[in-house]
Amino acid sequence: MGNTMTQTAAALSTDAKTAIADALNQSVAETAVTTMLAQNFHWNVKGMAFGPLHDLFQKIYEDHFIGQDDLAERVRALDVHAEGTLAGMLKRSKVSEHDGHATDQEMIRIMMNAQETLAATLAGTGALAADHGDTLTEDLCIARGQTHEKFAWFLRSHLAG
Ligand SMILES: [Fe+2]
Repeated sequence: MGNTMTQTAAALSTDAKTAIADALNQSVAETAVTTMLAQNFHWNVKGMAFGPLHDLFQKIYEDHFIGQDDLAERVRALDVHAEGTLAGMLKRSKVSEHDGHATDQEMIRIMMNAQETLAATLAGTGALAADHGDTLTEDLCIARGQTHEKFAWFLRSHLAG
């Protein structure tokens, strides 16, 4: 804690690696649950905006599929076990599953909230990594957080007016 020197994974203490990886595993979990949520909405969305929403939800799950892999592989670079079960992910995630029965507007709002939750989780994980001098994890968290805020903006723009 409080070490302002930049550290590589190999130089981090076991306690630091455990703390950072635990936060990263929450990010993995929320990204994976949101991947499923986006597929769910991609399949089940209805209404006049079907085409663009079907496509937007696909863009989101394609991005998140890569994102969850990058985050989980960073956990492994820290030499900690990556969360790899759906049950474990649901337990760790602040984003919840949905039964997929919702209007297009409700889906947009639910997905926007999921993106904002993810942005907050990744900002927090990045700050924790920075606290330990782990700038390489911090960088990944910043990039992922920016992507989630971009998707939150895309979704929010559908609700304006
Ligand atoms: Fe599809």
